[in-house]
Amino acid sequence: MNADNTCIVIFGASGDLTHRKLIPALYNLYKIGKLSENFSVLGVSRTELSDEEFQEKMRKALVKHEKASGEILDKFCTHLYYQAVNTSDAVDYSKLVPRLDELHDKYNSAGNTLYYLSTPPSLYGVIPECLAANGLTTEEFGWKRIIVEKPFGYDMKTAKELDIQIHNYFEEHQIYRIDHYLGKETVQNLLVLRFSNGLFEPLWNRNFIDYVEITGAESIGVEDRGGYYDGSGAMRDMFQNHLLQVLAMVAMEPPAIINANSMRDEVAKVLHCLHPLTSEDVKNNLVLGQYTKGNVNGETVNGYLEEKGVPADSNTETFIALRCEIDNWRWAGVPFYVRTGKRLPVRVTEVVIHFKTTPHPVFSQNAPDNKLIIRIQPDEGISMRFGLKKPGAGFEAKEVSMDFRYSDLSSNSSLLTAYERLLLDALKGDATLFARTDAVHACWQFVQPILDYKAQRGRVYEYESGTWGPKEADKLIAKHGKVWRKPSGLMKKKV
Ligand code: BG6
Repeated sequence: MNADNTCIVIFGASGDLTHRKLIPALYNLYKIGKLSENFSVLGVSRTELSDEEFQEKMRKALVKHEKASGEILDKFCTHLYYQAVNTSDAVDYSKLVPRLDELHDKYNSAGNTLYYLSTPPSLYGVIPECLAANGLTTEEFGWKRIIVEKPFGYDMKTAKELDIQIHNYFEEHQIYRIDHYLGKETVQNLLVLRFSNGLFEPLWNRNFIDYVEITGAESIGVEDRGGYYDGSGAMRDMFQNHLLQVLAMVAMEPPAIINANSMRDEVAKVLHCLHPLTSEDVKNNLVLGQYTKGNVNGETVNGYLEEKGVPADSNTETFIALRCEIDNWRWAGVPFYVRTGKRLPVRVTEVVIHFKTTPHPVFSQNAPDNKLIIRIQPDEGISMRFGLKKPGAGFEAKEVSMDFRYSDLSSNSSLLTAYERLLLDALKGDATLFARTDAVHACWQFVQPILDYKAQRGRVYEYESGTWGPKEADKLIAKHGKVWRKPSGLMKKKV
């Protein structure tokens, strides 16, 4: 199914996300025929630009990021328009009214409008109010949807306030909270792996699973986002949203059917079951770290405190490792070890299901625990690790692996990127892969004790750039007799 005829209004059109992700995603959807000819994009921000200047900027971005060229690029750019608006002044939004009328007429889009908020979060409450003041939220003529980028609030209190502000003008079914991890093919594949095979689901519980590891490692530092990042830290930037969403996909119950309500009911249910963190947990089962100068991929890199926009005495964490549990029948007592950090040795996101060992060791040397490694990125795929007999005399076992790699699929080039998938879904009115308000609140509620600890400048350990985080993170998991996997950039094990 292709998208309806629509006008897509991007607030924050002069920003980085628009250049790097949104316009490229729309261009690629257009290129593969997923957008009808009857769509238009209206870029909005404070900067004065003509339509032609905006088109030229976006053209350059597409050439740079997508190596775009030729007739398709020319045709795509004719769909782009621009309107300068002082986004905090409701009166100025009146400029959008004739522009939108004109675009809906020209493209026959019958009032269907998708608003994309790619602005600083301080405007998330303001923009809906100003749109409503100018009659731009009513669904009398065509549908109206709004996509909101993370962060959805700064903590539980502000998340609730933001919800109230947006809900004053949009109903929940019109609100699409985008978490780009849910748009990743391999995150969705977790659902297909679990719920379309008879093989895994019977084992997917406390009876057979010893523990679960979830890693979101990045080799980059904070780049030029020091100012933003220092107010967020790894906790708000990656953990509260992306990693908890991945955890939910691993741990949720099978939905009755795959649709927005059924899926998101299960996601919210499992997030509500996260065992509330006590002050003891925060002390014993949490490690926060901050990178110092070091070497990543052969390059000497600055420590966090030397990064642009970061205060010299910052206590912000760039690494977090946490042991948590889920209080329900399926998972009671199974630890989930979750970690994420910047300036780690490689970029890799993966989930590792560690199965329990056999009840009794029959051979002189058993294989290590059986593992299912779900590689979310890069080198997307799945690897099953189990023991087989070492060739030769005796009965020693050694670990072997059965690997599936997405790159082996011939249709690999037709994979949609996260933003392509999610934008297309929003255009089609499918909210299945967007975060619902109750799930967002459950995530904030779960992390609140960590936020409180951070607010009191709780202890942040140092780790050298290019290492796997503070040694305290190793101790955290070693206390329970486990070790973190130290994955390489490639999924396939070298044998
Ligand atoms: C973003 C964070 O949401 O996700 C960034 O703000 C982080 O700090 C990025 O680098 C990671 O996304 P991905 O898709 O590269 O894993």
